[in-house]
Order: sequence, then structure tokens, then C-alpha cells
Amino acid sequence: MTSSHLDLPIDETSRARLAEQGLDLRVVDTSDAAEHTAWSDAVNRGFLGPAAPAEQTEARRAHVQHDRLVGVYDPTAAVPAEPVATTHCWPAELTLPGARTVTSWAISGVTVSQTHRRRGIARALIEAELRTAVSLGLPIAMLTVSESTIYARFGFSPAALARNLTVSTRRVRWTGPEPTGRVHHVTPEQLRDQGHPIVERVRATLPGDVGYAATSNFWLRQIGLGIGDDNAKNLRLVRYDDIAGTPQGFAVYQLVEDEADFSNHTLKLHTLVAATTDAYAGLWRFVLEMDLVATVTAHLRPVDEPLRWMIDDFRAVHVDEVDHLWVRVLDVATSLRSRTYAAPGRVVLRVDDPLGLAAGTFALDVDAAGQATVAVTDDAPDATVTVNALGSLLLGGVSARTLTAAGSVSGDAERLDEMFRSPVEPFLSTWF
Ligand SMILES: CC(C)(COP(=O)(O)OP(=O)(O)OC[C@H]1O[C@@H](n2cnc3c(N)ncnc32)[C@H](O)[C@@H]1OP(=O)(O)O)[C@@H](O)C(=O)NCCC(=O)NCCS
Repeated sequence: MTSSHLDLPIDETSRARLAEQGLDLRVVDTSDAAEHTAWSDAVNRGFLGPAAPAEQTEARRAHVQHDRLVGVYDPTAAVPAEPVATTHCWPAELTLPGARTVTSWAISGVTVSQTHRRRGIARALIEAELRTAVSLGLPIAMLTVSESTIYARFGFSPAALARNLTVSTRRVRWTGPEPTGRVHHVTPEQLRDQGHPIVERVRATLPGDVGYAATSNFWLRQIGLGIGDDNAKNLRLVRYDDIAGTPQGFAVYQLVEDEADFSNHTLKLHTLVAATTDAYAGLWRFVLEMDLVATVTAHLRPVDEPLRWMIDDFRAVHVDEVDHLWVRVLDVATSLRSRTYAAPGRVVLRVDDPLGLAAGTFALDVDAAGQATVAVTDDAPDATVTVNALGSLLLGGVSARTLTAAGSVSGDAERLDEMFRSPVEPFLSTWF
């Protein structure tokens, strides 16, 4: 049903609520360049960015033709054509444990103008998007956040964490496997065609990862071909080919000079994607052993990164952990059916949802192959979870015991952990 996301009318409940404030909630017509430009300018301002040149905004318009852009308009504003609040949504493939994917509602571009903040506009917008996703039959909404204090009240919860690494390379001696392939410097144009299939191979098995097209700005900006990317000229790109010459990974990095000491460069690793453990070792070793570099920083890395086990000084790597992908379950039965489980068994879950979208009691039966059947039930629950906790549990990266301690799960946490924990830590490799 997701093909209808462009035709679906605006959510009537939020439209009426905002109309009481004299505000007009509507879908942006992306075929109208001026309307799109006004919306895009509002997003840039909302995220405290500079105004974009007209040709960049126009180039971006081509990338949002299949997305649902929403604006809130104030007819009394000095520039009434420019929305005072925005959202940007589209259906995207989310990988769940068991290498299953489920189409989910990606929510992005949430901004409210400083002139209109704290009067319930963001709430109206987010609730509208949740109901829109329900209307489209999508079982999950998801987002990445600039502030982690906003979205829990709407039922979202961190489901995939990420790490930022700082490596003192002078303390590092490689003790991991000897790579058998070869690193090549490549051009952005070469990587544009060869890198995306590798991204797709990794995404297919990585819970928490979200798909994007080879023609999308999500991909192009990673390799320096994004729209209006002033930093593109600083990027260096390498590809890792296995012993047979097949591309199995790539890395994108930039070097930052220490003006006082030329042997003290910092290497900022923007992306390292490896489809095999050999490519992983080959690319990390290349990065860590670069001459004239004393520090490697890497943002947005998986929680279960093997790197520290491949060098002789565990403490050469400083780790910061942050929330990254936030998930909001909308359809419990479909969400639970869309993944596989680590252990067979039956658990009856009561889900509490203050917004009423996902509340109910559900029996989850898992067979010996890890496949699930789910049915609404009147049976007594084995465990009660908030809808937030369910989102975290669904991807398998957060333990029910932890959430029990936090008060969002009660009941048989041990059984939930046996069934829900994923052998692969969930990870989202991009921002959206
Ligand atoms: C964050 C932002 C979208 C909030 O918009 P808003 O219209 O002022 O929010 P609302 O008035 O609808 O508030 C909704 C709820 O969120 C809370 N809230 C709003 N901003 C918050 C913040 N920055 N931190 C914590 N809570 C916040 C409100 O207290 C309110 O709570 P309640 O409904 O439970 O009482 C807006 O300030 C903004 O555009 N900021 C800059 C861009 C940004 O950070 N976007 C988020 C991207 S992930």
C-alpha cells in the first residue's frame, strides 16, 4: 500500500487542531518549484543552516519527488508562502533480525520556526505522521534525532545505538588477520557504481539499517557527489578488492593537518563499509597504519565493532556511545511477525501505548526455525511493555532486563531476552 503515500490526504485531526490557531497544514506540491523552495528554505533555517543557493535547492527537488513533504503555513506571517513548520517522510526498508526487511515510515526534516515554537505544532506534525503511517499500513515509524529529549513522548525509543571512536594510532600494533586482498585509491565516479552494491549487501543482514537508492543524495553525499557539498574536495576514497579482484568494501576519509607538527595529522574516517571480515581488516589496517597520522576519529560506527580485538592495545581506542535509530511500533502483530527469533517459545505481551495506536495483548509463538505467528489474545500477559520498550526490543539490541530496571518492561524479562536478543547488534549506517 506504500505507493499511495503521495496521494494520501493530510491528516484531518492535526489539520483541524492547527486550524484552531489560524494555521494551515498541507502537503507540499513538489512539482511547484517555488513551493518546494519555500519549504526547503524553512528546513535549512530550522536546522540552523545557511540559506542554500537556488540551483542547489532546485537540484534537491529532483530527489524528493517520491517523498511526502508537509508544511504548516501562517497566512499572517510576513512571508506567508514560507512554512513555519515542516516534515519530510518516505517509506524505507528497515532490516530486522533474521535478515528480514519491513517497509517503515521514515520521518525527517522536523522543524518548527523559532517564531512559532512551543505551541504544539511539532506534536501535531508528529502525531499526523504516525496516523499517516497507520493509514498506509506501515507497521513502524522511525527517525534519527538531533535532540534525544523530544520523541519518547510519541512512543519512539532508541533501537540501534552507535559509537564514535578516537584511536591513538601510535599506540596501535595490528594483531588481527592478515588481509589477503588489496586497497586501491578510487575516484568518486568509480565508487558511485561499485560501492552501493556493497552497501546493499551489508544492509540486507544488518538489523537497524535502512535502505536508500544508488541515485539518492544519501549515497552520493557519502562519496563526495552530494548536492552542494563544500567538503567533497577533501575526501579520499579507497576500495578493497579480495584476492580474486572482487570489490568487498570501501572507506571514505579526510586528513586534517596539525600546523605545528606535520607528523601529527588526524584522519577523519567518514565511512568504512566491509562485506567480508577480510575487507574489514584490510580497510582498518590501511587507515590505522597511515604515515604522518597520529589520531583516527570515526563517527557512526557499530556497537559490536571488532576493531579493538584486532590491535594489541585495547585502550588505544576511546569509545563514546550514543543513541542513533529511534523506532516507534504502530502495528504490533506485523512488526513482531517481520523478524525471526533466537529461541522458540510462546510469550504473551501486553503493550501499553498512551497514544492508543499499538495498545493490546498479543500472543507471540515462535517455532523451532525462529519463525513467528502473532495473534491478539485475551490470555494473561507474561510481560507488559511500553510501546517505546517494544521498539527497542524489536531490533534485538537492548535487553529486557535493562528495560525492566528502567521500568518500561515488567514480567518475564528472561524469556524475552532468550527470544528477542539479536546475535548481530543493530546498527544504522546513515543519518536521515
Ligand atoms: C524541536 C522542535 C521541533 C519542537 O517544536 P515545537 O513546536 O516547539 O514543539 P511542541 O510545542 O509541539 O512540543 C511538543 C512536546 O515536545 C516538548 N519539546 C519541544 N521541544 C523540546 C526540546 N527541545 N526538548 C525537550 N522537549 C521538547 C514540548 O515540551 C512538548 O511536550 P508535551 O507535548 O509533552 O507537553 C523545534 O523546537 C525545532 O524545530 N527545533 C530545531 C530543529 C530540531 O531540533 N528538530 C528536531 C529534529 S530531530
